[in-house]
Amino acid sequence: MSGAEHSNPDRKDDHAGQAMERALRAMLPSDVAVSAGRIGTCHVSLFDVEMAATAGAVPARRAEFAAGRGHARAALRQLGCRDQPIPRAVDRRPVWPPGYVGSIAHSSTLCGAIAASDRSYLGLGFDLEPAQTLAPDLYAIVGRPEEQESFRRPVASPAGPLDRGRLVFAIKETVFKACYPLVRCWFDFLAVRVEIDAAARSFSARIVEVGAALPGHTELHGLWDVVGGHVVAVLSLTREGETDAGGFEGVQTHESGAPGRVS
Ligand SMILES: CC(C)(COP(=O)(O)OP(=O)(O)OC[C@H]1O[C@@H](n2cnc3c(N)ncnc32)[C@H](O)[C@@H]1OP(=O)(O)O)[C@@H](O)C(=O)NCCC(=O)NCCS
Repeated sequence: MSGAEHSNPDRKDDHAGQAMERALRAMLPSDVAVSAGRIGTCHVSLFDVEMAATAGAVPARRAEFAAGRGHARAALRQLGCRDQPIPRAVDRRPVWPPGYVGSIAHSSTLCGAIAASDRSYLGLGFDLEPAQTLAPDLYAIVGRPEEQESFRRPVASPAGPLDRGRLVFAIKETVFKACYPLVRCWFDFLAVRVEIDAAARSFSARIVEVGAALPGHTELHGLWDVVGGHVVAVLSLTREGETDAGGFEGVQTHESGAPGRVS
């Protein structure tokens, strides 16, 4: 197949997907498009270049990849972008159509994508993870020393106590997805320090070890939630904080839909 058919996810009975989409909508400003659903709820036709990206992969991987492209195109359509390939770069990042930025995430059951115009946003990050306890043997990989000692203390959330290590993991993956396409420099979990505000369901993240690529004191602010047994985190990097050097100094928070500049 050389072109993707118009494919809208079948929302019927997809309560988990709808809940995820509603949550993303509530967490992001109105000029960020969102689409989410249960994996397998729609048939997505892939472009040849996308098919090649998962040739030889196991069916579950092909299904999540296809769902991601389906939701990415659904989000882009909301912005007026015609259906077109979203190739996978050698570093695995999705290559968004010119003029757009976005982010894709999937668990074994759910998938979603967010997208926006690059006139307003430098980058977007989005991650979803099953809200399960992070194995203690991963603490030293995910957490900086000052973060690890708090991992055993759950975070209060409307869905009940949430594993702090899992939340930090999801936030750091979100930060990576938003920042990597800008800096094109791989950084690990220990390069980022995260602070969580349970009451506001927000986070701040400071990239402390990628000084060459990002301004040294950059603080990024995003939001998280728990939806349908999944931890969800989002981060939007607006052009508002862009520096002359092409980096960025801050992002907006979007609580209650009200953008707010941060340092
Ligand atoms: C890239 C990464 C964050 C993806 O997370 P994951 O748990 O494997 O999978 P998710 O479902 O959450 O997200 C996968 C999607 O992320 C996107 N992605 C992959 N690499 C990416 C990159 N370099 N930049 C931005 N997005 C990327 C892709 O769209 C991918 O889905 P696709 O292959 O179907 O298109 C993870 O694999 C990784 O490499 N982590 C190590 C780096 C890191 O997280 N550092 C932490 C810094 S604080």
